[in-house]
Amino acid sequence: MADGASPTVLNPEVVKSATANKQGYHSFQFGGFEFARDEYFVHIKWPKGKHTMEVDRFLRAMVRDIGWGFFYGWIFFDDVFGTHNHYGTVDIYAGTYDQGCKAAGIDFIQRFTAESVSKAFETISRDWISEGYDPLSAPLETGSPMGSKGKPMQGPLLRNFTPAKRMLGLPGDQPVRSDDTGTPINRAFEDVAFDQPDIEPEPGFEGQLHAINLFDHIARSDVTWNPSMTAITKASICCVTSEEHMLPVIHGNDRNEWFFQLSDEIHWRIQDKNTGNPRGMIVMKAGDVCAMPADIRHQGFSPKRSMLMVMENGSPELPELYATGKLAPYPIEF
Ligand SMILES: [Fe+2]
Repeated sequence: MADGASPTVLNPEVVKSATANKQGYHSFQFGGFEFARDEYFVHIKWPKGKHTMEVDRFLRAMVRDIGWGFFYGWIFFDDVFGTHNHYGTVDIYAGTYDQGCKAAGIDFIQRFTAESVSKAFETISRDWISEGYDPLSAPLETGSPMGSKGKPMQGPLLRNFTPAKRMLGLPGDQPVRSDDTGTPINRAFEDVAFDQPDIEPEPGFEGQLHAINLFDHIARSDVTWNPSMTAITKASICCVTSEEHMLPVIHGNDRNEWFFQLSDEIHWRIQDKNTGNPRGMIVMKAGDVCAMPADIRHQGFSPKRSMLMVMENGSPELPELYATGKLAPYPIEF
């Protein structure tokens, strides 16, 4: 779909198969896409093609895609299949950004309302996730999604954000994961010192000024590649996360994105956004900062659980400025 064209926006309901397959799973039709799963794999079909993906990879990507509200730009579940956020509408594509699929003429893309995609993805995820598997947890900290369907999952599919009412740590703050929630320090961070900051307010300001040890907060997160805390001031967005194993999606940027490696290391594979051709590999170690350009897709690999801070400029006009070349795809000219 060429940028600038006005594609038809579809608003279908996801259609569930009347019966389950012998592993206990239903299949689903959404627009021109069909989704089915078996013990190991997800099978996606569209009018001129089909694709197979590991079920763990598919579910970890799909649940994050819903939870992130389709995030900025492109979420590639793998090199072939994914979503592109237009903020209100969402493209689902297969092969559109893969040179081989395009050359073979089997690429396919459709635009939907964001709400209909969200509902469809949630319906599919709930049918395909059984108790004991949490796609937001690190693979070593949850069960496997492979095999036949088990007991239905309990509890929420996503972790909802809890808005802080005051500075974290002050009475009445609605702490999400500060130490008094009892959320334990993750096994990967047991060797980290969690010194608390000294706070010396001027007389009259006691109880109004506070500070926390951010490492202590992140170390208690029970999810990976998913924000532990987000601070938003107008269009300035900052989120901190803990990362373990691999980013379950390949993210295609529609703007610059700043990474601050707070601990340990992450290896980033950087590819051209449109073709998937390799652009580079970055190993970020504690203290390193980098700006991911607006014209790439990237995937991170964190051999040991690590802490990462991400900053984005959420201004709605940016994707157009980058797509039309009015802004260079990188933030600084050296
Ligand atoms: Fe990104």
